[in-house]
Amino acid sequence: MTRSVNFSLLASALILSSLLVVAVAGKPSDDLKPIRREIYEGGKIFDISHRYTPEMPAWESTQGMVNFLRLAASMKNGSFANVSEMKLSVHSGTHIDAPGHFIDKYYDAGFDSDSLDLRTLNGPALLVDVPRDKNITAEVMESLQIPKGVRRVLFRTVNTDKRLMFKKEFDSSFAGFMTDGAKWLVENTDIKLVGLDYLSFAAFEESPATHKVILAGRDIIPVEALKLDDVEVGMYSLHCLPLRLVGAEGAPTRCILIK
Ligand SMILES: *[C@@H]1O[C@H](CO)[C@@H](O)[C@H](O)[C@H]1NC(C)=O
Ligand SMILES: *[C@@H]1O[C@H](CO)[C@@H](O)[C@H](O)[C@H]1NC(C)=O
Ligand SMILES: *[C@@H]1O[C@H](CO)[C@@H](O)[C@H](O)[C@H]1NC(C)=O
Repeated sequence: MTRSVNFSLLASALILSSLLVVAVAGKPSDDLKPIRREIYEGGKIFDISHRYTPEMPAWESTQGMVNFLRLAASMKNGSFANVSEMKLSVHSGTHIDAPGHFIDKYYDAGFDSDSLDLRTLNGPALLVDVPRDKNITAEVMESLQIPKGVRRVLFRTVNTDKRLMFKKEFDSSFAGFMTDGAKWLVENTDIKLVGLDYLSFAAFEESPATHKVILAGRDIIPVEALKLDDVEVGMYSLHCLPLRLVGAEGAPTRCILIK
């Protein structure tokens, strides 16, 4: 027992001293620390996608994403490479909804994530703050005074203030669109991309009806669970690229804003 403790102490001392040697030698290329960025070049590019981690929230779960990623083959166990596998809902993390998500005849007809228009997913977009004390109703939509011609809008809500996407436990009280707000958007705006900052653009309470309103025309794309903290309101160039999952009514998506 004492011996093994001594051995591990010795091992730690050796590792520490070799780290010190590396530090003193000052070889930046040997510094095995990945750079993880949110903002590039002092505000030119913003990564507005969330990291997929075991602690990120999953729909109606208290456990988060748990074991969605596993190392199926590992070099430590003699494989020639490390190969990970993932298993997750296509509506996990930052993602899009395709028309088949809530409208079954569209699902059967193949309106999947591969059928979405890249021209809608990429182009000028407006980031707005919505009132923190309400869900997005028709009245709120009207008050935002989004000009005609604006085709992509990212709605920042109290979800961002509450950092809900950084909390493992799913919170059904998240802010989102109410059905009348979605109807107002369809009838009175040119918006074809609706971005929100939690797992659904539609408030939990009226989720199916609200999704149907937005997805019925097959021309509006909801982008959900966007990471909108530390970005100022205003116009950006939005770029969202969903995975081409044939047959899937949703897809994990990388989204960035360029100023
Ligand atoms: C290596 O294999 C052992 C025995 O099958 C297993 O317990 C361990 O988790 C594996 N390690 C990795 C990193 O795959
Ligand atoms: C392979 O995966 C192991 C985890 O089992 C990790 O410690 C190691 O750094 C990986 N090797 C490479 C070459 O990425
Ligand atoms: C938004 O709606 C949810 C129900 O979906 C509710 O729990 C929440 O309190 C509402 N938020 C606000 C700010 O009214």
